Amino acid sequence: MNDSIIPDIPKIHTEIERKSEEIGFTMPSDLYVGSFLKTLIASKPKGRFLEIGTGIGLSLSWMVEGLDKDSKLISVDNDQELIDIAVSFFGDNAKVELICQDGAQWLKEYKGAKFDLIFADAWPGKYSEIERVLNLVIVGGFYIIDDMNKQPNWPDGHENHVHELMEYLENRDDFQITKMNWSTGLIVAVKK
Ligand SMILES: C[S@@+](CC[C@H](N)C(=O)[O-])C[C@H]1O[C@@H](n2cnc3c(N)ncnc32)[C@H](O)[C@@H]1O
Repeated sequence: MNDSIIPDIPKIHTEIERKSEEIGFTMPSDLYVGSFLKTLIASKPKGRFLEIGTGIGLSLSWMVEGLDKDSKLISVDNDQELIDIAVSFFGDNAKVELICQDGAQWLKEYKGAKFDLIFADAWPGKYSEIERVLNLVIVGGFYIIDDMNKQPNWPDGHENHVHELMEYLENRDDFQITKMNWSTGLIVAVKK
């Protein structure tokens, strides 16, 4: 199997990549995790999905393509410029709600229904507010994180945070986890 071939790249993805180069966005999710998220989301009809760390919308473009007509997706980022760009791409999609707010604050204030899948791609929901975010996953739902393998842009000492998070997740007996040495290093956790 040639794992470098990624099928069904969203049409809008190329446009978002162009915009990403234009503004110098340097934290994109890769195609592998995008494709994986789309597949997992497609497994949850009428699902509710959360992304923390919208960025410029690259992973979002995949996630949106996994939604069925009754699904809903919330994506949160604290950077107004990035949210404005995401709105320009996804603002007319009624299934998508884009929120500009600090992710930690949003997690503290959120009182709505739990989620079938959460992709935590910012500091909050990953290296902070971890209990809060895991409590928002329904039984049978997914918690997905990437960038668990050493990345060139990691600041000094970041591996300690990664190690602590990994250990924390391994010790949660209410989650079944798999560590995948693929893409940028994924953890797939399912709420039991
Ligand atoms: C790794 S990037 C996300 C990439 C995105 N998923 C994509 O595919 O383009 C992390 C994002 O988290 C956002 N971020 C950083 N700190 C945050 C915070 N405290 N609350 C919400 N978002 C935050 C950054 O603005 C950045 O867009």
